[in-house]
Amino acid sequence: MTENHETIDALSHENRRFPPSADFSLSAHVSDGGLHDEAAADLEAFWARQASELISWQQPWSKVLEWDLPYAKWFVDGKLNVAENCLDRHVKAGFGDKVAIYWEGEPGDTRTITYAELLAEVEQFSNVLKNLGVTKGDRVNIYLPMVPEAAVAMLACARIGAPHSVVFGGFSSQSLIDRINDAEAKVLITADGGYRRGEVFPLKPAADEAVAQTPSIEHVVVVERGGNEVDMVEGRDHWYHDLMAAADASCPPEAMDSEDLLFLLYTSGTTGKPKGIMHTTGGYLTHVAYTHRNVFDLHRDRDVYWCTADVGWITGHSYIVYGPLANGATQVMYEGVPNHPGNDRFWEIVEKYKVTIFYTAPTAIRTFMKWGADEPAKHDLSSLRLLGTVGEPINPEAWMWYHEHIGGGRCPIVDTWWQTETGGIMISPLPGYTTTKPGSATFALPGVDIAVVDDGGNEVDGGGGYLTLTRPWPGMLRGIWGDPQRFVETYWSRFDGSYFAGDGARLDDDGYLWLLGRVDDVMNVSGHRISTTEVESALVSHPSVAEAAVVGANDPTTGQAIFAYVTLRGGHDVDVATLRDHVAAEIGAIAKPKAIFFTPDLPKTRSGKIMRRLLRDVAEGRNLGDTTTLADASVVDELQRRASEAPSED
Ligand code: PRX
Repeated sequence: MTENHETIDALSHENRRFPPSADFSLSAHVSDGGLHDEAAADLEAFWARQASELISWQQPWSKVLEWDLPYAKWFVDGKLNVAENCLDRHVKAGFGDKVAIYWEGEPGDTRTITYAELLAEVEQFSNVLKNLGVTKGDRVNIYLPMVPEAAVAMLACARIGAPHSVVFGGFSSQSLIDRINDAEAKVLITADGGYRRGEVFPLKPAADEAVAQTPSIEHVVVVERGGNEVDMVEGRDHWYHDLMAAADASCPPEAMDSEDLLFLLYTSGTTGKPKGIMHTTGGYLTHVAYTHRNVFDLHRDRDVYWCTADVGWITGHSYIVYGPLANGATQVMYEGVPNHPGNDRFWEIVEKYKVTIFYTAPTAIRTFMKWGADEPAKHDLSSLRLLGTVGEPINPEAWMWYHEHIGGGRCPIVDTWWQTETGGIMISPLPGYTTTKPGSATFALPGVDIAVVDDGGNEVDGGGGYLTLTRPWPGMLRGIWGDPQRFVETYWSRFDGSYFAGDGARLDDDGYLWLLGRVDDVMNVSGHRISTTEVESALVSHPSVAEAAVVGANDPTTGQAIFAYVTLRGGHDVDVATLRDHVAAEIGAIAKPKAIFFTPDLPKTRSGKIMRRLLRDVAEGRNLGDTTTLADASVVDELQRRASEAPSED
């Protein structure tokens, strides 16, 4: 964390302040400290009020919270259905004609879907799943591009009580295999292909490769989108539109227990396979509805909300599907990349749909900065009234650029800190109340208790330390699928009685929080978590590779970039491009190392531990610190020489 501390020391000299404008606060849901006071006075009563005001229950809960560390149950005995909350109740309340999703395909085709239409599609698809033999508790895998059917599939699963496991469409067939097998999913929902950078990227072939090695899958449902040629296996593979045409229209929502599993979402950890993070029903929905309403100050009668994440990530689950739809929002969903056909595609979309709330990642903002302020300047962005960021720390320069060139100097920015495991936003400004500082996520939300602690677990009241969550919250993960031991070890064993997030944080003199990034061996590349071990295993699975060490090095655009140091087996030869492609095939293109260096040896301590700190120093071109514990110091000299010579690839 040393280098991070230096950065943050510089950051905390950041003395620009942005209080909310009187105008914004006037109509904001939160414009004073009342919510904080309420939560501080009685946490359970606070969350109970959110749950009863924001969510409809088929049966009330008997107890708000049962906390048997580290196992939480929220709204015990309560019964509800998530899809009913996201759809039926809005239609019943007279909002059936309200637009739920303005979908924009990358080639420019569009679909406008009202709440009534979305409900009809979800009911029918729920029957499709039932007809394929899916029953309550069965897992369903979803591997789709950013098409409305992704939301339909998730909501249909929720409607019939079948937990979904969405796998990001950019992941490889191998990643899909691992996730399907871990969840033992019964049905896979995929597409022929989707659009990306003006071309169709095929998904079905990867799904076919996966299904050959996933014995639990009985049926594959294929959405037609790319129009690319696909093989359909008789009896196993079915077109979405054919099944829909044959399915009944009406499907009543299943009464689910508040603690029934809603979904699994796999995320990288420090060691081993990706973890299937478990999220349940009542607490999760309460948490995402509450945060979506208050952090984004959503007014459903006038806002058009747009989150640019993919549904394959937690941000897409919580802030495209469940939070916005539970709140009856109108939102934009976009299929493709920000630079097709031009670098102004996002701004064209903002102008076209008069987007008012825009939520994206710092890595995207840094890319927009590179493309220049002329791109957003081509469009009328005056509809925007609030901006958000998620996924990684935002540097003050990017924050200021976002503020000036996208927000026109008038929009509050909410820098939201959270994780796949937390389910929803935990730390963020409340835009009508909090004075922001560029680069700081500011404070824990009302209802969330955090502490920054030192190595010994003692709370620090200023300076740096580890971020911990000290009380249960409704959206918290309930476990790791099939691995309760790992759940306890990963999150609950480092600091007694608290959840350890794996992030460093610093409190400045005014009590503002500055997130410092991961303190473990998890890299954050473009806001996505990738573990060093996963990439190392992918590299050593290549027959020519003997040993590999992977580090995340600072990168001006992606936050961190993956650097790999590889030792080849005697007599073997392989080039960098082949190895990068191999990693893409094993995990997905997002895990491709930016640079790979071949080395006869890796720097190790005398006890054989790879010295990653040194490798990071080499990757970032820093002078090496203490190398006295190295078994063979000449290894590092050689690496430095190679690093200074080798070009890196993008
Ligand atoms: O390191 C933190 C970083 O992203 C990690 C969580 O990654 P994931 O589970 O993939 O979820 C990303 C979307 C919620 C965290 O441990 N992170 C997320 N948001 C921020 C952040 N770091 C700094 N500031 C943020 N706003």
